[in-house]
Amino acid sequence: MTLNERDKKYIWHPFTQAKTALDPIPIVKAEGVWLIDESGNKYIDANSSWWTTIHGHGNAYINQAIKDQLDQLDHTLFAGLTHPKAVEIGERLVNLAGGHFTKAFFSDNGSTAVEVAIKTSIQYWYNQGKAKKRFLAIEGAYHGDTFGAMSVGARDVFNRPFERFFFDVDYLPFPDEQNQAEVLRQAKDLFETGEFAGFIFEPLVQGAAGMRIYDQSILDQLIQMAKDNEVLTIADEVMTGFYRTGTLFATDQIIAEPDFLCLSKGLSGGVLAMGMTITTERIFEAFLDDEFARGMLHGHSFTANPITCAAACASLDLLLKSETQKKIKWLSDQHALFVQNNIDHPSFRSVKSKGTILSIELEVGDKGTYFSSIRDKAYEHFINNQILIRPLGNVIFVNPPYCINETELDMIYEQILDFANTLSIG
Ligand SMILES: Cc1ncc(COP(=O)(O)O)c(C=O)c1O
Repeated sequence: MTLNERDKKYIWHPFTQAKTALDPIPIVKAEGVWLIDESGNKYIDANSSWWTTIHGHGNAYINQAIKDQLDQLDHTLFAGLTHPKAVEIGERLVNLAGGHFTKAFFSDNGSTAVEVAIKTSIQYWYNQGKAKKRFLAIEGAYHGDTFGAMSVGARDVFNRPFERFFFDVDYLPFPDEQNQAEVLRQAKDLFETGEFAGFIFEPLVQGAAGMRIYDQSILDQLIQMAKDNEVLTIADEVMTGFYRTGTLFATDQIIAEPDFLCLSKGLSGGVLAMGMTITTERIFEAFLDDEFARGMLHGHSFTANPITCAAACASLDLLLKSETQKKIKWLSDQHALFVQNNIDHPSFRSVKSKGTILSIELEVGDKGTYFSSIRDKAYEHFINNQILIRPLGNVIFVNPPYCINETELDMIYEQILDFANTLSIG
């Protein structure tokens, strides 16, 4: 049997309707920005494998760190024990995250990093005997696929069967240029009820909703308003973290200080699964008690796995190097130039960039949903031209590994314009 036949027989793929899906591409190797299939075809990983591989594939420095750690200490439980690489990555990220943060809690992916922030917020109030139960989120949000993370995400076709099990969440309209006063008014009315445990948001860019970019000043005001009303603030930086928006964290671009940062994806360089929730001393102290049950009784078998932590330390070393910083700046500038040069393209409803993310909403009349047929056409066009882009509905976006070179980036831009031109012609 071929790999695809065995796959079809035994494997159930994520985010896929198996009845109608195309056969998966059998990838057998990856190098830098390139994914290589079993027939030797190559594809540029233009969305960094679900937005994770910030340094590209097979990075020698990260690989060496993984091998060295494997020889030293492979895995250990993380309750009652600790190890050097967990302490190193926790210490470095807490310090980089800003003065008010003091503690890092490990978990296994983006959804669990969010789940930990939600559970911690709920228990923070519970431990103080305060009945705050509601959460506030932003329309279109995506925070992951576990129950808490789904509850605070958009109520849409992705989680309809589960909706009746979700806890109470209110949603603010997505902030755009026109509605900011209204968004602030709604937030104020809700916060003043005193019922809110937390406010969760994807800072500056909503990822899965279609790489929707919004203004930093409205976010600053919302966080400050939440804090003034004793509502905990959760910055879900799972997608935006690690220079995706041009700064280490998107929240580095605002003044107000959130109570939680949720990290994953680029955290380990996108090589191994890892989540981290960073928080403050005030939150941590609310769990200190002689009674065991008032602690944070949450954990996963692979929490703070030493190999994963070693990969994360190596990824951070690379990220902070001046060559990487220059590449991030160059990539951001290239995207900004693409936006400037193509702002009036007749097939683009909008074209925007934020740091290393380029986001293009295609003009499709009023049919701009996730299931827009343009999505399949665009996917096919890019695959036929050696580029892997998974559009979000009618939104094409590019967030490649930072090691991408000029020729590779130009290939992507060229194919985007090629596809867009076919739309405006016919
Ligand atoms: C903002 C955000 N939060 C959480 C998640 C969930 O992360 P994971 O897929 O690792 O569970 C994602 C995934 O795309 C995300 O974009």
